[in-house]
Amino acid sequence: MSNVHVFDHPLILHKLAIMRDKRTGSKEFRELLNEIAMLMVYEITRDLPTEEVDIETPLCKAKAHMLSGKPIGLVPILRAGLGMLEGILNLLPTAKVGHIGLYRDPETLQPVEYYCKLPDDAPSRELLVLEPMLATGGSAGDGIAFLKNRGCHSIRLVSLIAAPEAIAYLQKRHPDVDIFVAAVDEGLNEHAYIVPGLGDAGDRIFGTR
Ligand code: URA
Repeated sequence: MSNVHVFDHPLILHKLAIMRDKRTGSKEFRELLNEIAMLMVYEITRDLPTEEVDIETPLCKAKAHMLSGKPIGLVPILRAGLGMLEGILNLLPTAKVGHIGLYRDPETLQPVEYYCKLPDDAPSRELLVLEPMLATGGSAGDGIAFLKNRGCHSIRLVSLIAAPEAIAYLQKRHPDVDIFVAAVDEGLNEHAYIVPGLGDAGDRIFGTR
């Protein structure tokens, strides 16, 4: 599990427990998802490079540190990934955002990209792919493959809950991509839902069921 990072911080676990509860409504679910995404990205960005700069405070000249290195891009996988975006933009307000929409053709079983709009300079950015639920890992894996085909190679995957099946699949398909999650659950049921999970994240975010 070397490239898998599980954020079992007490605040994250507490918020995730409320999200898992079936009585939690869409408004609170959305707020909690954004809060957890923000807390996770606070940690994920710990290794961003900084450079010393000269500034002048109201009192004197001083040295300070500001971010340097590659700019960040956020790529939510439609539609549940959108639920993590606002929280992360609170921390990284200058990040650019690309969107990827995918489905799997029921006959060929090949991933079909029905929507893709990325920043022009996506290949030179540090990309955070957002997909809250890693069940089989198929859509996250396909989304990452589409990004790599477009020349993007600096990619991290930010998720909420993963099934062990998804982790094994993604580690094999994209061993170069670090995976950040709040929890690794027991497994999948016969409908490919994560157990215990939290149900369908997209439906709970957008109130569609
Ligand atoms: N997608 C979800 O939203 N929930 C699951 O349990 C699996 C996939």
